[in-house]
Amino acid sequence: MLLRGETREDDNFMCFTKHEPVGVCGAIIPWNFPLLMFVWKVAPALCCGNTVVIKPAEQTPLTALYTGALLKEAGFPPGVVNIVPGFGPTAGAAIASHMGIDKVAFTGSMEVGQLIKEAAAKSNLKRVTLELGGKNPCIVFADADLPLAVQEAQKGAFYNQGQCCTAASRVFVEESIYDDFLRLSIESAKKITVGDPMDPCTSHGPQIDRQQFDTILELVESGKKEGARLECGGYAVQDKALIIQPTIFSDVKDHMRLATEEIFGPVQCIMKFKSQEEVIERANNTHYGLAAAVFTRSVERAMRVSSELEAGTVWVNCYNALHAQAPFGGFKMSGNGRELGEYALAEYSEVKAITIKLNDQLTV
Ligand code: NAI
Ligand code: MG
Repeated sequence: MLLRGETREDDNFMCFTKHEPVGVCGAIIPWNFPLLMFVWKVAPALCCGNTVVIKPAEQTPLTALYTGALLKEAGFPPGVVNIVPGFGPTAGAAIASHMGIDKVAFTGSMEVGQLIKEAAAKSNLKRVTLELGGKNPCIVFADADLPLAVQEAQKGAFYNQGQCCTAASRVFVEESIYDDFLRLSIESAKKITVGDPMDPCTSHGPQIDRQQFDTILELVESGKKEGARLECGGYAVQDKALIIQPTIFSDVKDHMRLATEEIFGPVQCIMKFKSQEEVIERANNTHYGLAAAVFTRSVERAMRVSSELEAGTVWVNCYNALHAQAPFGGFKMSGNGRELGEYALAEYSEVKAITIKLNDQLTV
């Protein structure tokens, strides 16, 4: 892996930069994508010459341990990747405050992200990168390819049972196509095959645990109480199996909990808008800024709206189109720093500037 530096010179000096490893990199990862999160943290850290101490989520330690066995089999030297399963307030907090750890990368809730940054500040000011989820707007203009927008917005809402930091949890639809968009979305949601995740025909399985399951159903209740319209789903298919039927609410208003809190479950919230100016302001009216999407046939509109949206990723006529080479991360309280692509390498290296005075005494 070539990490590019820069050179600058004038008559008296030459300066060049080197990218050196940060040292020991801590990583604390969530349960929603146990393998992907492991790789997103470990791969760039190792590429830049660091070692890693990684703590998987307490719900999903086995994926990390199995990957550890594969790393061993592949011949990684001992001590390069260290896997420490454990609970957040103990094992996770120990990483965040450890004096021998030089950087920590975290993915999870905003609350815990704040604790990590605080612990880093109070210990050794280790470098911190955070990925803290979102309340992602998905904007569908009247000139969009409607079936495509319905399909992608729904994929954005229900993928991985909605347990995604990028979930399309606020779908803004232009007034003139609102009724058609809603009708097609309901038809599509009702066709989803729900059930046993071990059955290859199933595309929608259970939530991760009882706590998440209860939180989602509580938010569904809040939506009903606050006056949103429950169009389909909204109930547990099998209580014991923790499966929630894909759910759609229409007439969701910006102040409702459904529109302000990260749901992390299969709940699509559909809202109406009248003008481009209005929808941009509403889309940006959140502390989060992870991802956003725009559906339109107009290149001019796509460019203008994507420039004005406060989000680290904007998808145009697609959703969840992540790529290993495209940087991923949040504006505002969705986090600090970027993962993936070359931008991720910057987070795992220290830049050293070496300046040489040019004069006759310098010999080679
Ligand atoms: P969490 O933020 O508590 O857990 C994520 C990771 O942080 C786990 O490895 C956990 O052990 C660790 N952790 C917890 N407390 C810690 C502490 N005091 N110090 C250091 N590490 C700690 O998230 P949780 O409780 O699993 O889910 C709650 C909500 O967080 C979800 O409903 C969702 O809204 C959000 N979330 C966002 C994710 C994302 O992809 N950005 C992933 C998982 C959760
Ligand atoms: Mg937690």
